[in-house]
Amino acid sequence: MAIPRRHPALPDPGTRCRVALLGFGTVGTAVARILCEQPPAGVELTHIFNRGVSRKRVDWVPAGVRWTEDIGDVLDSPADIVVELMGGIEPAGGWVERALDAGKSVVTANKQLIAHRGASLLSLARERRCHLRFEGSVAGGIPIIAALRDGLAGDRISRVLGILNGTCNYILTSMADGGTAFGTALQQAQELGYAEADPTDDIEGYDARAKLAILCAAALRADVQPEQIATRAITVIEAVDFAHARQLGCTIRQVSHAEWDGQGGLHATVRPTLVYRESALARVAGSQNIVVLRGQYGGETVFSGSGAGGGPTSVAVVSDIAAIARLESERSEAAALRAPTHVRGEFVTPQYLRFVVRDRPGIIARIAGAMEQHGINIDAVLQLPYPTKQALPFVVTTEACPPSVLAEAMRQISELDFHVQPPVDLPMLIGDAA
Ligand SMILES: NC(=O)c1ccc[n+]([C@@H]2O[C@H](COP(=O)([O-])OP(=O)(O)OC[C@H]3O[C@@H](n4cnc5c(N)ncnc54)[C@H](OP(=O)(O)O)[C@@H]3O)[C@@H](O)[C@H]2O)c1
Repeated sequence: MAIPRRHPALPDPGTRCRVALLGFGTVGTAVARILCEQPPAGVELTHIFNRGVSRKRVDWVPAGVRWTEDIGDVLDSPADIVVELMGGIEPAGGWVERALDAGKSVVTANKQLIAHRGASLLSLARERRCHLRFEGSVAGGIPIIAALRDGLAGDRISRVLGILNGTCNYILTSMADGGTAFGTALQQAQELGYAEADPTDDIEGYDARAKLAILCAAALRADVQPEQIATRAITVIEAVDFAHARQLGCTIRQVSHAEWDGQGGLHATVRPTLVYRESALARVAGSQNIVVLRGQYGGETVFSGSGAGGGPTSVAVVSDIAAIARLESERSEAAALRAPTHVRGEFVTPQYLRFVVRDRPGIIARIAGAMEQHGINIDAVLQLPYPTKQALPFVVTTEACPPSVLAEAMRQISELDFHVQPPVDLPMLIGDAA
């Protein structure tokens, strides 16, 4: 069916702004609640689309709202803003594209869609003179995209640090505070509704890297695909790592980190990382999120709050709707993105290396020998009292070294015959207050 083209899409100031909702799940329902109970000025909910829509109907939505399971009803309607809250890249992406192509503005909280196709969708929105907003796609209720577009537009952001996945943060803080094992902490997170039945995307770091890719574009103006970001699962972390981290004045967090390398390349990683216990990153407890931005002129700015949940995310979505209805400027989205010459995870930091070995004389000397061969300086060796010599954990910390050099040394060390478990290496983010 042909989709009518309308340029520009937005209603004249003073006229009503019609909103169609795609997806009536956790966030969609919460957005509909706000739009029904206290809509932004001039905004009116007109359509709710969902598959099997009859089972979704609720009595608090006004009778004038059209419930439908036919996407054509929305895309061919005079709706001014389409709010995509279904998730997944397809069919959501194709429908968002069709909405923008028809000159409708779009609001979405879909991190995978924006991380993978945000640049081309923004460019389509510009071409069709409509708006694409996605505040809810990063750090849920924290208005980080708005802060970058408005309050920090005068600065040049040089670094992004974040805790962007509440599930991982909940698991790691439970392990740190209560000595809980990884599996138990994950189960608790699932029981409390913080973790999905299939938590792969969270614990492998795929959720956080999609959000970091969006922040790379919004904060660093870097065009990066999530798959380019070096990512490591938090599953390698054990209770013994928190005990050693405490000895070092640190704790462990899943940290998302990106910065330009000064030569056109970008460093970007999502990894379990040691951070100082007094740092802003360490103080983020439970399922909360944090984003720490470093600006060339303004220094560091910290944003923290609820990173997920229907309530906080729906506020981000409705704020985007309100902004479009106010015809806010798209100035910062219009700025061109720069493709890095390369994307690597080569942050040069001190490293935490945890070994679990069958104890015997000479182990430290062999590790130190391998480190020396690769020019890596050992900073400290830590060993807590442990009941068995058959699987004895201990930790070596190093001075700052490039991860690629460390990887070579660790490859050599891994081949030695005293390991009971593969060694674990974690970067230590202890050079500054973040
Ligand atoms: N939940 C959060 O805390 C949170 C936070 C930030 C961002 N987000 C993002 O917000 C989006 C929505 O998340 P959510 O938690 O609200 O998900 P959800 O509870 O699973 O809701 C998705 C809704 O969309 C419907 N839907 C999915 N695919 C569809 C299709 N192909 N055709 C028609 N209807 C379809 C689902 O219908 P069924 O009921 O039939 O499955 C469901 O009602 C996702 O992109 C998510 O990443 C969520």
